[in-house]
Amino acid sequence: MKVVTTIKDMQELILKQKSQGKSIGFVPTMGFLHEGHLTLLNRARKENDIVVLSIFVNPLQFGPKEDYAEYPRDFERDRALAESEKVDFLFYPSVEEMYPTSPSVKVTVQERTDVLCGSSRPGHFDGVATVITKFFNIIMPTRAYFGKKDAQQVAVIEGLISDFNIPVNLVAVDIVRENDGLAKSSRNVNLLPTERKEATVLYQSLQAANAAIDKGERDPIKIIDMICEVIGNESSGVIDYVQIYSYPQLKPLEKLEGTIIIALAVKFTKVRLIDNIITKID
Ligand code: PAF
Repeated sequence: MKVVTTIKDMQELILKQKSQGKSIGFVPTMGFLHEGHLTLLNRARKENDIVVLSIFVNPLQFGPKEDYAEYPRDFERDRALAESEKVDFLFYPSVEEMYPTSPSVKVTVQERTDVLCGSSRPGHFDGVATVITKFFNIIMPTRAYFGKKDAQQVAVIEGLISDFNIPVNLVAVDIVRENDGLAKSSRNVNLLPTERKEATVLYQSLQAANAAIDKGERDPIKIIDMICEVIGNESSGVIDYVQIYSYPQLKPLEKLEGTIIIALAVKFTKVRLIDNIITKID
């Protein structure tokens, strides 16, 4: 595995591989890799000749009061994990390499951002879309792999690829969970021990919602109230949002039908967690 820190070297290496007809699988991450990322790498390894992993904590997607400084980082651990997943190139640029000057052009996402994390994290998806556009130009991937935990991110990047005619196939991969149901996230290490126990209620509340839908409940308000009650009763976390939309359009629904996303975000002392389920109602 080769660690690459400059954009120029990365582009040269990729162009060489592409000239030999090799397919490129790309897994963008902010590091502190967990099993969710390893699942993406594993899938990329199976489906492509060359696997590129990027590790870059992108300042552009963090708000001024968000956890950019506290975001966990451990390059040596990540490097060893990447090596064991048979990554070919680990792209690890500095902030100065990615943004040598304050960006003169930024990508602005116009749709699918006024809901879910978009409404409580203004500018977040512009930052994601900007860095992903840069990565797509640097790595030129055949396929790019994203986890469905960030379902809104997947929807936004689908829009980016389609609107800007970017020749890359987006592969959205299912959420990987701990044994007790908590969705794997690099941020989980920042939960206090009591909060870590309580955090299992996030997925439990989503499962309870799913069970109610299976029994015939079609009123989104009732489902949202039910989730808020379960979380409120069993955790000290503060609910940021619990919302239900059509997926991937992210449009509000008066009655539950078609493919829907039930998504939530809960704030704990040092960390805000998100989770969701996407389900099809017949
Ligand atoms: O999902 C993430 O970790 C980030 O939003 C991404 C896609 C790597 C862009 O910085």
